[in-house]
Amino acid sequence: MQHTWTGGDLIFSYCTDGDLPEISRMLSKESVCRWLFFGPNAVEVTRSYFLPLIEGMQAALLEGRTPDHHVFTLRLHRTGEFVGQCALFPVDFSPGSYLVGYQIDDTHWGKGYGTLACRFLVYVAFAVLDGYRLNGDAVAGNTASLRVMEKCGFVREGLQRGYWHARGGCHDRVLLGLLRDDLPAGCIEPLAGAFSAR
Ligand SMILES: CC(C)(COP(=O)(O)OP(=O)(O)OC[C@H]1O[C@@H](n2cnc3c(N)ncnc32)[C@H](O)[C@@H]1OP(=O)(O)O)[C@@H](O)C(=O)NCCC(=O)NCCS
Repeated sequence: MQHTWTGGDLIFSYCTDGDLPEISRMLSKESVCRWLFFGPNAVEVTRSYFLPLIEGMQAALLEGRTPDHHVFTLRLHRTGEFVGQCALFPVDFSPGSYLVGYQIDDTHWGKGYGTLACRFLVYVAFAVLDGYRLNGDAVAGNTASLRVMEKCGFVREGLQRGYWHARGGCHDRVLLGLLRDDLPAGCIEPLAGAFSAR
């Protein structure tokens, strides 16, 4: 199984423990967590959440198996600078259905990387993992994230009122979905052309 891809001016690679300091620093920022239902987190909290996921992924990759979870680190191709992360999490009892997630560090917002990360997840889910459905969710006020998903073809499917409790208040959760069958015929191949093996 492939570990690393390039797309645009980013490198996407399965997360390792060497990425944890930069991921932890990003998720300790109030700006990045403003619309998340978790965080800002202490470094140790982020580390203890991600470490078992990373160990599981790396063990699978070493043995040539497809991991259950797919957490990717995004870096600038040219310099290796950390940009953010994105992930596909399996949906219980529904092989081929995944929840998408992405966080871009605030120093790199507004450059199209959120959209590129989400597009990469669409590519991995449908072209690499042969999935059939992607699930997305966002706090109703997270305009940028909703726009990212809609630019990648997700459609709004519902709203759960007062679903998340964070920062002293309750927040509505917007639900989105993208079925492989929603994508126009012949649109997976260009996606595969946009993300190449490294
Ligand atoms: C949401 C997030 C991923 C967007 O990443 P980004 O790299 O800044 O997004 P892009 O540059 O690809 O922009 C995507 C679209 O959102 C719009 N957008 C970006 N920031 C915006 C903002 N603050 N308000 C409204 N729209 C915004 C852009 O204009 C663009 O739309 P357009 O092409 O129609 O102009 C990033 O802000 C982030 O990581 N935030 C913190 C974590 C988070 O909220 N993750 C998502 C959880 S559901």
